[in-house]
Amino acid sequence: MKAFSYWNFQLLGLVPVVLGAIHDLFVGNLFPPASIHALEFNDETNSFKLVHSYSVTSATSIKLTKSIAAAGVCSNTTSAFIGAMSSEPFYAFSASWPGPNSCGMSFSVDGNGSLVQVTDSWKYAETSGVHGLALNERDGRQLIYSADLSADLLWTHVVNKTSGKVKEVSRLAMRSSGMHPRHLAAHPNGKYLYVLMEKDNSLAQFELDPNTGAALRESIRLLLIPTDADTELYWSAEVMLSHSGRYLWATARAQRDKAITGYISVFLLGEDGQIIKRMFRIPTTTVGGWANAISPAFWSDEYAAMTDYPEGYVQMFKMEGRLETKDGVEYTTARPVARVNITDGGCCANVLWYS
Ligand SMILES: *[C@@H]1O[C@H](CO)[C@@H](O)[C@H](O)[C@H]1NC(C)=O
Ligand SMILES: *[C@@H]1O[C@H](CO)[C@@H](O)[C@H](O)[C@H]1NC(C)=O
Ligand SMILES: *[C@@H]1O[C@H](CO)[C@@H](O)[C@H](O)[C@H]1NC(C)=O
Ligand SMILES: *[C@@H]1O[C@H](CO)[C@@H](O)[C@H](O)[C@H]1NC(C)=O
Repeated sequence: MKAFSYWNFQLLGLVPVVLGAIHDLFVGNLFPPASIHALEFNDETNSFKLVHSYSVTSATSIKLTKSIAAAGVCSNTTSAFIGAMSSEPFYAFSASWPGPNSCGMSFSVDGNGSLVQVTDSWKYAETSGVHGLALNERDGRQLIYSADLSADLLWTHVVNKTSGKVKEVSRLAMRSSGMHPRHLAAHPNGKYLYVLMEKDNSLAQFELDPNTGAALRESIRLLLIPTDADTELYWSAEVMLSHSGRYLWATARAQRDKAITGYISVFLLGEDGQIIKRMFRIPTTTVGGWANAISPAFWSDEYAAMTDYPEGYVQMFKMEGRLETKDGVEYTTARPVARVNITDGGCCANVLWYS
């Protein structure tokens, strides 16, 4: 469950300028008990620790300001993802999972970033199950990209920033069915969208229409597991951009019951967002079967936190082997530098960087 994203906290106006060596993170549980854990990472000593756990049903210094029931065509549905605009009016968006008949919702927020109401709801296709959303604003136009895992479609919607109403721009079929687009990331320059294919264990780059923002065509596809690996033993997980937009982190999970590990790949992007090359692919330390959700830090390009379920931990990776090249700064690998075990049986879903 993506109960939180970085943008949720950003819209709450809580993300401070980061100058110190101590960073705060939150990680939510994937399964009961419903908990949020607060972690603290020191980027000088690599000390990484659990500082507090919160039950979602009570409030300590995390305050539950509002909860809103799914409404409109989404009544009585559950969601796997929520994200919010990074500028005013800071609407939040969710999509229902697991489908079928997946739907989406937009939510307005108040001046503090607290949710106000459902401003619109929309349907995908009968066969749809949407697992991931990516948001991008380009030339004043707010776009939503939806990864429809079940129907093998990539959807583009546009948001009316006055009303919060959402309109379909296009739907694009994947090159072959059964690839299962799961999560995606949009480059801020609006030229490229990166889509992680869960079943195909690949990452695809799509070109975007310069006028409408619609996803047009796949231009690059790269495997997230070794070419000689059995693709049936993996299901790829997460793709996210680094802070500068020059690196793309993507992960593959090994299937839960297999005694093998997943993989982390990091790609170098050009200034326009074009994938230049894979810098490296490293195995994860455990199976990572239901998680391997990578979350790059927003205060540095070099760090990313990654979760594991069922073992229940958060691990910090740091890129190493910095090289200045004609294409920009490259790295030769990443290494796990710290780990926090959270063995309450439900941890860990997604990490949100707070500072
Ligand atoms: C909501 O969904 C649940 C699970 O599918 C179902 O048991 C319940 O009857 C539904 N409630 C309404 C009001 O549709
Ligand atoms: C924001 O939060 C403060 C403190 O809780 C409250 O006094 C204020 O009314 C809130 N403003 C809005 C627009 O909700
Ligand atoms: C956006 O919504 C506003 C308020 O409902 C409406 O006046 C306007 O025409 C809409 N814009 C577009 C492009 O549909
Ligand atoms: C976390 O758990 C693993 C596996 O049980 C153990 O090897 C490791 O020492 C633990 N790490 C910490 C920091 O407690």
